[in-house]
Amino acid sequence: MTGEFSTDWLLLREPADAAARATELAGLDDLARYDGRIVVRDLGCGTGSMMRWLAPLLPGPQHWILQDRDPALLSYAQQHVPEGVSAEIAELDVTALGDQHLAGVSLVTCSALLDLFTAEEVTALADLCVASRTPALFTLSVAGEVTLDPPHPLDEQVTAAFNDHQRRQSGQRWLLGPEAVGATAEAFAKAGVSVTTRPSPWHLGAQQAPLILQWLRGWVAAAAEQRPDLELDGYLAARSAAAGAGELTVTVGHQDLLACTD
Ligand SMILES: C[S@@+](CC[C@H](N)C(=O)[O-])C[C@H]1O[C@@H](n2cnc3c(N)ncnc32)[C@H](O)[C@@H]1O
Repeated sequence: MTGEFSTDWLLLREPADAAARATELAGLDDLARYDGRIVVRDLGCGTGSMMRWLAPLLPGPQHWILQDRDPALLSYAQQHVPEGVSAEIAELDVTALGDQHLAGVSLVTCSALLDLFTAEEVTALADLCVASRTPALFTLSVAGEVTLDPPHPLDEQVTAAFNDHQRRQSGQRWLLGPEAVGATAEAFAKAGVSVTTRPSPWHLGAQQAPLILQWLRGWVAAAAEQRPDLELDGYLAARSAAAGAGELTVTVGHQDLLACTD
């Protein structure tokens, strides 16, 4: 399947994502094995936002392997590589990842991806990282907490409906949604590796009104699909009007996770 995330949406959220990721995890000394050139494999790279955030924080020469299943996003990512960094693209589903793809890789990353996976898929990914002793930095997994200010009587129900939508069955797959970080930490723990987690929430206000408006449309649409009985058109209109007027602040919870396998 391709085209589920648009370039426009990923670029709109890039500055908020960069401000939210837990920089201190990228600064841990044991993040990567720095034996000369660092090779980073970014899973579900989209437009390459993770690379543009992390590359300046890592020391020394770097090569990025940008992996996604969407060729249009890969093409954008390849054309927007930071100066001094080399990159190649890999059109490959994350579920097809094998040991051969981690040979010579110093660090595996992903951003805004884990919550789209199942418990079996994050376990396979953690096992692969541990077996190849490759550190993993997995950022911006949704945590299920959303706060809107000023509050509205429907906020809680919309949040709960959205979270249930995130945990939905997609074909034969049960997506983890807000349970993703917990399930991934458990998978690493079972393989004998403890993880460090940090909150990485979006804090959005009047300056980010276009992002809030777009996020609201997707958030409310998912909640409405889950709970058609809630009839959320009026809610979306009221929240969008407040956001458009710069009178709504939104905090969206995420978690970052670092697993160092040495
Ligand atoms: C929410 S976007 C995040 C993109 C990027 N990491 C970022 O932070 O902007 C999720 C990305 O993962 C990709 N993706 C989702 N499931 C995938 C899978 N099973 N294998 C490979 N790519 C996948 C999508 O095409 C999309 O680019």
